[in-house]
Amino acid sequence: MSGTPFRLAALAAAHERVTFDSGSAALDRYLREQVTQDQRRRVAACFVALDEGQRIAGYYTLAAASLLLAALPAQIAKKLPRYPTVPAVRLGRLAVDRHFQGQGLGGALLADALERSLRSEIAAHAMVVDAKDEAAVAFYRHHGFIALPESPRTLFLPLASFQAARNSSSPAA
Ligand SMILES: CC(C)(COP(=O)(O)OP(=O)(O)OC[C@H]1O[C@@H](n2cnc3c(N)ncnc32)[C@H](O)[C@@H]1OP(=O)(O)O)[C@@H](O)C(=O)NCCC(=O)NCCS
Repeated sequence: MSGTPFRLAALAAAHERVTFDSGSAALDRYLREQVTQDQRRRVAACFVALDEGQRIAGYYTLAAASLLLAALPAQIAKKLPRYPTVPAVRLGRLAVDRHFQGQGLGGALLADALERSLRSEIAAHAMVVDAKDEAAVAFYRHHGFIALPESPRTLFLPLASFQAARNSSSPAA
């Protein structure tokens, strides 16, 4: 998506939310009717990609979460401390307006969400997402997420794995 004119920002009151159309009525309605209330109550933080005309081309939300240690694949769980839960960041929603789909923006928003989680001073072991359908499962698997063995629509990505992949693909300084 390099060279595209999107600007990433925290959602603000001035951003036009009404015309957003991702093809998912639930995700559009959430942006239109619910997200500002969730931000006010501090249950979600929303970030948007704006095009040159300040139109919302895509958005995602983040919130603190936890994963049950017992729900993780055994080979990952055995490397973690024996606390009942593992700290995580929930990617609550991710959507791209139909007009901008298939141009790399969804991948760029996901990378921004992961970078933002890595930058946080509050530790989180992984990003977790509840995929809404099988296409969403495929999207997250494509980006390296791993399904929970007993709950295959819940997927997670250790932030250290994202960091290692990002470091190995970026040119040496
Ligand atoms: C899913 C969605 C966010 C993807 O955004 P997008 O901008 O169209 O996707 P991108 O162009 O950034 O694709 C990035 C990569 O993911 C891949 N990809 C996209 N959708 C995919 C899918 N359903 N399954 C597997 N891979 C997928 C692309 O091939 C691309 O791969 P590459 O980087 O190796 O070339 C977008 O289509 C959307 O908003 N859909 C409606 C809402 C939705 O389903 N949200 C899912 C979150 S619950």
